[in-house]
Amino acid sequence: MYYPQELIEEIRMKNNIVDVISGYVRLQKKGSNYFGLCPFHNEKSPSFSVSASRQMYHCFGCGAGGNVITFLMEYEKYSFQEAVQALAQRAGVALPEIEYTQEMKAAQSRRMRLLEINKEAAKYFYYQLRSSQGSVGLRYLQQRQLSEETMNRFGLGYSNKYSDDLIRYLKSKNYSQDLIRDAGLCNVDEKHGMYDKFWNRVMFPIQDINHRVIGFGGRVMGDGKPKYLNSPETEIFDKSRNLYGLNFARTSRKGNFILCEGYMDVIAMHQAGFTQAVASLGTAFTAGQANLLRRYTDEVLLSYDSDEAGVKAALRAIGILREAGMTGRVIDLRPYKDPDEFIKARGAEEFQKRLDGAQNSFFFELDQIQKGYDMADPEKKTGFHRAVARKLCEIPEEVERNNYLEAVAARYGIGFEGLRRLVNGYALQNGLAKPAERPKSGTSARTSPKDGVKKAQKLLLTWLADQPQLYPQIKKYISPSDFTEDLYVTVARRLFEGLEAGGVDPAAIVSMFEEEEEQREVSSLFHARLERMDSLQEQEKAIRDIVYTVKRNSYERDSKALGSDADAIKRAIEGKKLLEELSKTHISLR
Ligand code: UTP
Ligand code: MN
Repeated sequence: MYYPQELIEEIRMKNNIVDVISGYVRLQKKGSNYFGLCPFHNEKSPSFSVSASRQMYHCFGCGAGGNVITFLMEYEKYSFQEAVQALAQRAGVALPEIEYTQEMKAAQSRRMRLLEINKEAAKYFYYQLRSSQGSVGLRYLQQRQLSEETMNRFGLGYSNKYSDDLIRYLKSKNYSQDLIRDAGLCNVDEKHGMYDKFWNRVMFPIQDINHRVIGFGGRVMGDGKPKYLNSPETEIFDKSRNLYGLNFARTSRKGNFILCEGYMDVIAMHQAGFTQAVASLGTAFTAGQANLLRRYTDEVLLSYDSDEAGVKAALRAIGILREAGMTGRVIDLRPYKDPDEFIKARGAEEFQKRLDGAQNSFFFELDQIQKGYDMADPEKKTGFHRAVARKLCEIPEEVERNNYLEAVAARYGIGFEGLRRLVNGYALQNGLAKPAERPKSGTSARTSPKDGVKKAQKLLLTWLADQPQLYPQIKKYISPSDFTEDLYVTVARRLFEGLEAGGVDPAAIVSMFEEEEEQREVSSLFHARLERMDSLQEQEKAIRDIVYTVKRNSYERDSKALGSDADAIKRAIEGKKLLEELSKTHISLR
C-alpha cells in the first residue's frame, strides 16, 4: 500500500458516496437508501442500492458492492491507487508525491501505459495540426466550418505525410516498439516493416468518459479511400462499450442523447449547442453502448443518415434500445443526409424543430413496414394490418399495448375492434412477448449445507454491522476464529475490534483490502439478505438460530480435529457447552 491507512480513510470520508455515484447513476431516494439501475449489469428495474449511513453500495441483482473506492475501481477500471488519487483530487486532499522507482514503473499497469502512449500520440497530432506542416489539415477543417474552439475542444489533430514520424517520436519518448504496436498506432508487415497507421489524415482522438484518449479515427482530406481509418480494438479500446462524444454529452443535462453515425456529426452538433450528441465508433450500435447511455437517461433521439443504410441501422438501434428498456425517437433530416449537413444548411433553430418533432420509434418501424405494402390493393392492405398486429404483440405490457393499439388504429385508419381481435388472435397462437425476467436475489435458491453455513456467517456479520447492540450478547459465543473462510475471519476480526472499541465502519473495513474482488466479497458480507420478517420475535429467533448455526459448524470442525490438536480439543469441549447454553438463550434486538 502506497498511502497510509489514515490518509485513505480521510479521503474516503470526504467523498460522500451518494454524491460520487450520482455522477454516474441516476439515484432515487427510498427510505434511508438510494436506488438506481445497476451500472454493472443489465437490468430494467433498480436493484442497485446506495446507503448514505453506511457509505456503501450494493446490487442485489449481480452482487456488486463496496465503498466509494470500490465503485471507482469497478466503474472506471481504476487500480486501488488510481481510485484513491481521483477521490483525493475530488475532495481537494493533497497526496504525498510518490517516487516511482524503476520497478514500480515496470509494474505500473499495462492499461496506464497504453493510455499514456495514446495521449502522447494525440498530443503529437494536435501540435502537427497547428504547425506549418499541418496547414492542409487546418484548412480542411476550417472549410468544414469548424471553429478553432471546437477543434481544440475535441483535440483534433493531423498526421502528416511521413509514414514513420509518429513511431520515431514515440520511440524518442522511450516507448517500446511492442507498446506502439499493441496500442494500434502502427502497422507491421514484411515488406515495409513497421510504419505509422495514420498518415496524411485529420485526426479525431476518441476519448472515454473521463476524457482519456483510447483510440483514433482519421479522415482523408478528399475523396480517398477508406474515408475514415480507425484504431483497431485494443486492451483499452472496446468499440462496443464506448461512444464518441460521451465524455462531453454525459454532463450536458439535456434530458436525452442524440445518437448519430459520424464523428463529424457529433462535432457539428456540439458546435451548434447540441452537446448531448454521441456516435458509435465506425461500428453498429451495440447493447453495451445502450447500457452506457441508460446510466444517464431513458430517451435517445436517433439521427441516422436518411439513406437506406441509415434507416436499416436506425431500425436495429431501435430494437437494441427497446431491449435495454429505453425509448427511441427518430429524427427526420430529409432532404439532408446527416446532422452535419442539415445544420450547415438550415442552422441550429431548424435542427431543434426536427428534434422536437422526432417520431416515436414504434411508428417509425410501422412506417417502414408499410412501405413494403401497396395500400391500394385490399389484399396487401390486409397483409399490412396483420403485420401491425404482430408488431403490437411484441409489446409485453398490457396497458402500453392497448395504448399503442388505440394510437395505431387511429393513425393508419384501421378499425379498432378488428385490430384488437387480430392482436388477441396472434397472442393466443404465439403468446405475447414475455416481460424481461428479474434477476434472482439468490436468497430463495436451493443451497448446499456448506453454502448454508457461509450464508449464516454472512448474515451474522451483516447483523453485527447493522445492530452493534447485539455484540455484547454475542461475543460470549462467537469469536472471529469461528468463521470458516480466511476472508471472513479477517473481516470478523476487524469488525469485532471495531465493536470492542465502540464503533463499526464497514466501509472502512472494505478499503483495507486492495483487490477489487476482495472488496466486492467483503462488502457482500455486510449485505446478506434475510428473508422478510416482520415481528421482532421472529427476528430475534432468526438471529439466535444464525449464531447457533455458525457456532455448531465451528464446533463440528473442532471435534473432527480431535486428537490432533490439544487446542482444538479444548475448544470443542468449550464449544459444546456454549452450544447447549445458546440453544436456551434469548438474544434481544432492543
Ligand atoms: P459517413 O460516411 O456517413 O461519414 O460515416 P460522415 O460522418 O458523414 O463523414 P464526413 O461528413 O463525410 O466527414 C459515418 C461514420 O462511419 C464510420 C466513421 O465512424 C464515420 O464517422 N466510417 C465511415 C468508417 O469507419 N470508415 C469509413 O470508411 C467510413
Ligand atoms: Mn457527413
